[in-house]
Amino acid sequence: MNRGRWSLADMPDQAGKVMVITGGNSGLGFETAKAFALKGAHVIIACRSMEKGEKARNKILQESRVAKISVMTIDLTDLSSIRRFAEKFKQQYFRLDILMNNAGIMASPFALTIDGFESQMATNHLGHFALTGLLLDTIINTPNSRVVMVSSLAHKMIRNGNGNSISFFKDSNGYKPFRAYCQSKLANILFTYELQRRFELYGCQSIAVAAHPGASYTHLGRFQESKPWVRFLLPLIRVVLPTPQSASLAQIRAASDPTVKGGQYFGPSGLLQLAGYPVQVKSSELSYNAEKAKELWKYSEQLTNIRYRIGDVNSKASLATA
Ligand SMILES: NC(=O)c1ccc[n+]([C@@H]2O[C@H](COP(=O)([O-])OP(=O)(O)OC[C@H]3O[C@@H](n4cnc5c(N)ncnc54)[C@H](OP(=O)(O)O)[C@@H]3O)[C@@H](O)[C@H]2O)c1
Repeated sequence: MNRGRWSLADMPDQAGKVMVITGGNSGLGFETAKAFALKGAHVIIACRSMEKGEKARNKILQESRVAKISVMTIDLTDLSSIRRFAEKFKQQYFRLDILMNNAGIMASPFALTIDGFESQMATNHLGHFALTGLLLDTIINTPNSRVVMVSSLAHKMIRNGNGNSISFFKDSNGYKPFRAYCQSKLANILFTYELQRRFELYGCQSIAVAAHPGASYTHLGRFQESKPWVRFLLPLIRVVLPTPQSASLAQIRAASDPTVKGGQYFGPSGLLQLAGYPVQVKSSELSYNAEKAKELWKYSEQLTNIRYRIGDVNSKASLATA
């Protein structure tokens, strides 16, 4: 295997593995679901529309009649929907080899979810934080399982010193759609690294890794497409940007390459990491800040009311004496 030019041909057989992928009906998530299903994994497409999920499932079945794909609904902007998903999943499955937190929205106008969270932070970070927490026992009890977070180059736009690194908006005051997206993508990486630290602290075999696709034309730009300059450039964007199939390679490698280690981050190898073969890359300096990650974790637990069994160093001590 040439690790510098990793491709789907290098992806090991996935038979016997169970994978949940949020947003597996579209774009990068669809390509990832397809790649894992064609390699023999049982893939659960976790999406908010049963109709879209079934359409994606049928498309994959056209490539392989024996592919194992199920569709289950989840709305990441609604904690009760996430709880229902987790309950139903745990009734049906006893292992979870790969949880890929892939679903996302980008630069949406200000909106609050049913739980009162700003919608990008809710979909991209809080929803996945809650889902991972609710599935944690199953993940930890599955040998060599992985949690894979799909982040973005955009996380690098948030630096220490340019205002609050992560904001949880309660109203539209000061809300900037793209900045809020960048913050949610930084949250994805802070969460990944903190989860990995806790896996290590508790001696879990599970690992947490992150990936970013570079850039690709998918439905992610739906909130921008009405802008005249975007409409003007769209034909060019479509041709120039890598296909979702090649852009999804980083997250596929992060989830399947046996040499991957917890806490690693993958992205394309080419110019500005916009395209290319998937390799290990570095995330921003701020993303490695363990204090920020702990603060984010604590606040995310408060907001979602989901307590992880793998607490921080202090709660580990109290668990041990409990
Ligand atoms: N494309 C890029 O250039 C790029 C660059 C950097 C990072 N990323 C990241 O890649 C990931 C996948 O994006 P994509 O490009 O494949 O975009 P996409 O084609 O728009 O797919 C996003 C998926 O997320 C789902 N989703 C959105 N809100 C949801 C909710 N509340 N509950 C459940 N599912 C929800 C969408 O469902 P519906 O189909 O129902 O809307 C869709 O399946 C995202 O995390 C994004 O931030 C993409």
